[in-house]
Amino acid sequence: RPKVTITTLRKLYKRKEPITVMTAHDFPTGTLVDKAGIEMTLVGDSLAMVALGYNSTTDITMDEMLHHCRAVARGTRSSFLVADMPFGSYETNPDQAVNNAVRMLKEGKAEAVKLEGGKEMAPTILRLTQVGIPVLGHIGLTPQRQASLGGFKVQGKTVAKAKAMIEDALALQKAGCYAIVLEAVPEQVATHITNILSIPTIGIGAGAGCSGQVLVQQDLLGLYGHVPRFCKTYRSLAEDIIGALREYSADVKSRAFPAEEHCYPMPQVELDKFML
Ligand code: KIV
Ligand code: NA
Repeated sequence: RPKVTITTLRKLYKRKEPITVMTAHDFPTGTLVDKAGIEMTLVGDSLAMVALGYNSTTDITMDEMLHHCRAVARGTRSSFLVADMPFGSYETNPDQAVNNAVRMLKEGKAEAVKLEGGKEMAPTILRLTQVGIPVLGHIGLTPQRQASLGGFKVQGKTVAKAKAMIEDALALQKAGCYAIVLEAVPEQVATHITNILSIPTIGIGAGAGCSGQVLVQQDLLGLYGHVPRFCKTYRSLAEDIIGALREYSADVKSRAFPAEEHCYPMPQVELDKFML
């Protein structure tokens, strides 16, 4: 499969083919996404919760994100690799954002960065895109701001809030974002934003009108406890895995495992001498 680039994503958008995006957090999960032919792999800071057990995405550091991003990169051949800028790594000023985004590309081996926020982030995004760092925007429900949002809630449910979100989307497009994630937004608002923009929208809990879709891998595979309403659980792998581990445990207790085929025999002539 050929390498997916910004140009590939642009072509998919032009011919109105939905863009597929999936999260990954380490070498195996990155390899699986790449092998499935997903066009964009996101090393989302959701990995703080689903892979590291933190209570919030705001707990993860730049160094932890780099460590995970490198691992995903080692399993990624074709997919376009994007990494989340963690909370605290880009808000201070555009210089801080450039320094950390450069680290994400050089040390993390990402090809683009994603950061949360609306028009207040436009100057920062402009600096990043001007120095040649592709930026994926993220508006609507921005989990890094969950404390001030009062939790994981749908955004843009009133006309005033929807209008503010449209302003944010336009400001992000003007600042040079190559695409924008819309998270937990009413379908009509997300579709409207998609229609007025000339860059792709990537929806998560934003309906079918977006230019592409993203989900968190653990959510759709049934590997993480709470699954949001907007996620379709394609498999319940946790049940399968726990079942397999229980069988293994029972086999060890009953000595059904390991069986003869799992053991290394000694050559008969050596064995004869050994047994003397
Ligand atoms: O961190 C993440 O996984 C994300 C996606 C849900 C968009 O930001
Ligand atoms: Na994120």
